[in-house]
Amino acid sequence: MTTTADPALERFLDAHRDERMASYEAFLRIPSISTLPEHAPDCRRAAEFVADDLRRMGVEHVEVSETAGHPVVYGDWLHAEGTPTILVYGHYDVQPVDPLDLWDSPPFEPVVKDGRMLARGAADDKGQIHMHLRATEALLATRVGLPVNLKFVFEGEEESSSEHLDQWLADNRDRLQADAAVISDTSFFEGNRPSITLGLRGLMYAQIDVIGSPVDLHSGTYGGSVENPANALCQIVAALKGPDGRIRIPGFYDDVVALSDADRAAFAALPFDEEAYRAGIGVESLIGEVGYTTLERRGARPTLDVNGIWGGFQGEGAKTIIPAHAHAKVSCRLVSDQEPDRIFGLFRDFVMEVAPPGVRAEVSMLGGGRPSLTPMDHPATQAAARAIEAAFGTAPVYMREGGSIPVCASFERVLGLPVVLAGFTNPDDNAHAPNESMVLDNYERGIRAIARMWDEMGRLELPGDGRG
Ligand code: BES
Ligand code: MN
Ligand code: MN
Repeated sequence: MTTTADPALERFLDAHRDERMASYEAFLRIPSISTLPEHAPDCRRAAEFVADDLRRMGVEHVEVSETAGHPVVYGDWLHAEGTPTILVYGHYDVQPVDPLDLWDSPPFEPVVKDGRMLARGAADDKGQIHMHLRATEALLATRVGLPVNLKFVFEGEEESSSEHLDQWLADNRDRLQADAAVISDTSFFEGNRPSITLGLRGLMYAQIDVIGSPVDLHSGTYGGSVENPANALCQIVAALKGPDGRIRIPGFYDDVVALSDADRAAFAALPFDEEAYRAGIGVESLIGEVGYTTLERRGARPTLDVNGIWGGFQGEGAKTIIPAHAHAKVSCRLVSDQEPDRIFGLFRDFVMEVAPPGVRAEVSMLGGGRPSLTPMDHPATQAAARAIEAAFGTAPVYMREGGSIPVCASFERVLGLPVVLAGFTNPDDNAHAPNESMVLDNYERGIRAIARMWDEMGRLELPGDGRG
């Protein structure tokens, strides 16, 4: 351990605990759901909340910066001469809250229960932005300055595919020069073990529309003589994946980087209780692509899943029709080096090929993002690991996550930055689901870990050109 506890920082954090909780709750009360247009003013309020907070603590050049969608909050503190510059990213937008009736308390009325903060965004990602804000505030209040140069980028469209962020990154490329990016938007490993995430999957999201007759048809009068769009859609979906869990789209695996022996050994070394994992999800059994373990399947192999499927009669009782149309939303999680646009092309061509005659199939792309992978031995990764170990008393495990943060690939590609994924939420945080929660012990220790991380990173000699 190269860091020791910082007594002044501890005193400050102890003295401001109530204030911290009140501010966390105030942030969570803003319903910043980015995908629903009626919440656009709330997204702006959340951005203003973060900007005001940054200004109050002494972060400079704070700006609520416009995009074609929800604004990006920028701010920096660049007076730690001769130390690296770190770009801190987070998202202040949240997922929708339905089904509302499954929440124990209203999603935007935060409550503390059993040592957890319960609210939409408590973990993903407002809680983790708030931890960064509090760590920076505590350092600025108790030291002459920060131990490292920081640039903050907090966006409001992550949960709706970061549609306008790449343009903003390109437009602001100069002021975003840095040596590494740090993102706290991932969780700990099973059993709430501290972790650093090295890999995230990408995403290709598409919709299939199968169209038959202009209106529903009587299934007795016409049944047997016309193709049924719902049947046709099932046929298409069934063709996409084999019983071996392999995706049958020709060329789909062409760009998948095979797991090395070292990769597989790293997965195997994780302290994973597969039966507890299964029981925790509440499913009968675990399934997946043959030849791979559960952790490999969810962290390092691509997938194809139906996210929603509809068409025809949905009411109670029976109605004898051949529906006029049927639809499915289908997504693929991607791994290096799969490109979302290329995968969409392969997907579309295959759907067209397997669609039976007598109906028209249309395929459209609804979103995408590239996968990303960070080297474990990068000095910034190792600095984060030391800080996490100091704050949590356990060395972090290195893992790959099945979820996606498309901006990671953009930081790597557009800005040339290594990305350290140091997230702090409990794996049972119910992100995107009812009763989202953040374990407050993770939140509190995480704030200390972030402060220590800046001490650790301030000592690094990084080769980049991001010096403040
Ligand atoms: N924070 C998550 C990403 C994540 C998920 C990290 C699971 C660790 C574990 C992020 O907010 C998210 O939900 N991303 C979306 C991306 C999509 C909307 C482009 C996802 O993974 O579905
Ligand atoms: Mn998130
Ligand atoms: Mn999310």
